[in-house]
Amino acid sequence: MKKLYEQLPGRICTWYAQNRRELPWRGTRDPYLVWVSEIMLQQTRVEAVKPYYTRFTEELPDVEALAACPEDRLLKLWEGLGYYSRVRHMQEAARLLVQEQAPEGKAALPDDPAALRRLPGIGSYTAGAIASIAYQIRVPAVDGNVLRILARLQADERDVRKASVKHEAESRLQEALQSCSAPGDFNQGMMDLGAGVCLPKVQPLCEACPLADLCEAHRQEKETSFPVRSKAKDRRIEQRTILLIRDGDRVVLTRRPAKGLLAGLYEFPNLPGFKSRQEVLQTAEAMDLQPLYIRELDRAKHLFSHVEWQMCGYEIRIAGFTSAGTRAAAPWFLAEIEQMEKEYPIPSAYKAYAKYLQ
Ligand code: ADE
Repeated sequence: MKKLYEQLPGRICTWYAQNRRELPWRGTRDPYLVWVSEIMLQQTRVEAVKPYYTRFTEELPDVEALAACPEDRLLKLWEGLGYYSRVRHMQEAARLLVQEQAPEGKAALPDDPAALRRLPGIGSYTAGAIASIAYQIRVPAVDGNVLRILARLQADERDVRKASVKHEAESRLQEALQSCSAPGDFNQGMMDLGAGVCLPKVQPLCEACPLADLCEAHRQEKETSFPVRSKAKDRRIEQRTILLIRDGDRVVLTRRPAKGLLAGLYEFPNLPGFKSRQEVLQTAEAMDLQPLYIRELDRAKHLFSHVEWQMCGYEIRIAGFTSAGTRAAAPWFLAEIEQMEKEYPIPSAYKAYAKYLQ
């Protein structure tokens, strides 16, 4: 009997031909479009990505357009997707490609997985996905879905977070793919199987799985015991007080520092810790504002990968400024609410407060 890994390409490609999902990025082999979709799909669900993908690629249809896009516009196109360093790295990579290749012609992504991995933001998974889907190179694309399928197939007790587990999967799949004529279909088939059949956490749909008869976890009726995963580190908790400062149709915004969490995005002014109404009024006065009215807003919470923000908020209506003061040098400014919605990238963490502006 054929060994497990050798059977995967044939089974998966046959299954994929009949069960593939129609997705906006599946009608193309344009490496740039494959790249954009794969970066968006990291840490984000397919349904959430669809509208972003369409809007982003209509406005920035190629490497040159991405390289030339102003930062605020780029972040606005990504607003709500989170993990903003993904799009910053993508632009850095686009600029490198334009620098290297534009004098001779159109900038293109390389087809060699090792060359792809040298670009900012492209790791082994993304390099494998681009090389196989766009260029039909025989290379795997191992992400969490693939690791889950393999862990179940082998009832593998090892911790899937370990780099050695991923490396082993990559080298065994790499070998098995050498006789596969459609490596892009194989990789996308594994993604679809992971998303629709070999489901995470809940009981998978083994009756619909083309690999069920090969699956050790299924034989043992222990599908949900795999993959084994070490506990993630707890998130650090940060408390913040959000100030929604309104002057008629305008709201006060400030820009986050160029480095660190949510770098370069815009936000409502905020203070560390949970502040009292009195402390907030003092801050408003120190900001040279003339508060008319203050009301406490609901508390909210936002989870990042390593931090949890617990937020309280205040809406402060102001009647302009008390004096000319030092406003020109202030790090914050008044933006029209309509303009804020159209032009300023605001992190989703503030959604619970931005809704009060509608
Ligand atoms: N998840 C990551 N990449 C994907 C792709 N190309 N298709 C479907 N799901 C994915």
